[in-house]
Amino acid sequence: MVTQVSAPLSGTNIPTGDATVRIPLLGLGTWPMTGTECTEAVSTALEAGYRHLDTAENYRNEDAVGRAVVGSGIDRSEVFVTSKFNREWHGPAESVRAGLEAALERAGLEYFDLYLVHWPNPEHGRYVQACEALAELTGTGLIRSWGVSNFKPAHLQAVLEAGLVPAVNQIHCQPVFAQPAVQEADAAAGVLTAAYTPLGRGRELLEQPAIARIASRLDRTPAQVVLRWHVQQGRIALPKSADPQRQRENLDVFSFELTAEDLAAVDALDSATPSDTFLDADEFGH
Ligand SMILES: NC(=O)c1ccc[n+]([C@@H]2O[C@H](COP(=O)([O-])OP(=O)(O)OC[C@H]3O[C@@H](n4cnc5c(N)ncnc54)[C@H](OP(=O)(O)O)[C@@H]3O)[C@@H](O)[C@H]2O)c1
Repeated sequence: MVTQVSAPLSGTNIPTGDATVRIPLLGLGTWPMTGTECTEAVSTALEAGYRHLDTAENYRNEDAVGRAVVGSGIDRSEVFVTSKFNREWHGPAESVRAGLEAALERAGLEYFDLYLVHWPNPEHGRYVQACEALAELTGTGLIRSWGVSNFKPAHLQAVLEAGLVPAVNQIHCQPVFAQPAVQEADAAAGVLTAAYTPLGRGRELLEQPAIARIASRLDRTPAQVVLRWHVQQGRIALPKSADPQRQRENLDVFSFELTAEDLAAVDALDSATPSDTFLDADEFGH
């Protein structure tokens, strides 16, 4: 799927029960920042024009992210905040709600725009129940939409069989390990894929000759080429940067386009070998 993406705050609509929620395709990742460093980074990102922030209970920075949102003076309705919860809350609606209320309290916010099951933890056996609880909680005013993270096709299938469709599946996705099978399962179910570690943590990926060649031809940076590759294919991308200049660079991917050949050249970097930072959701979770 190729999405026409041209405006800085370009987003896509996600259906969530009765309502439709618009989610900006480019968001700021906030792990592993905490405390003042995190609040400052989120503040500079909001000043630069970011309107989508990705936090989680496990990052221990919901407070720092919330402080930046509240302190920005930007109307709350203009900022899209995603958070995620840990396995201890998996269970019936009372349990997920207790975790959510504690998270909102930490963040100092009245609602999250998107709330995700952070890891399926299949050995725990409660992720479908957690999704049922999230579907119930959507519409209470505490969350506008719900989704999952790190769900493999089998985990997603179990959720679909319960009659539930998450809005988003946030997964490890970068050119050298793009997880096409997970993306295809998401797309077939109408679930939007969001890419975490979208820049491969800013390491060797950005030195790949195929990416460097495109960057040089378009007079863009390798990071911009990679982020454009994500959003032009309709994926949300969540690059983390604490540096104001790199934050601006990463957001500035809506005024140029990659050709079909460029997209194919970046697609061709995918290998079936998991990148060194990939964690398998059947073996890892919290
Ligand atoms: N759902 C999950 O289980 C999960 C797991 C991991 C991550 N995440 C989310 O995804 C976000 C992003 O993933 P990530 O932090 O793993 O990786 P990433 O965004 O691919 O890479 C971040 C690293 O790249 C550097 N960087 C950023 N922009 C750059 C640029 N333009 N040029 C060169 N280097 C650049 C950053 O350094 P500087 O800060 O110095 O710029 C940082 O070291 C996280 O922050 C978190 O919100 C979710």
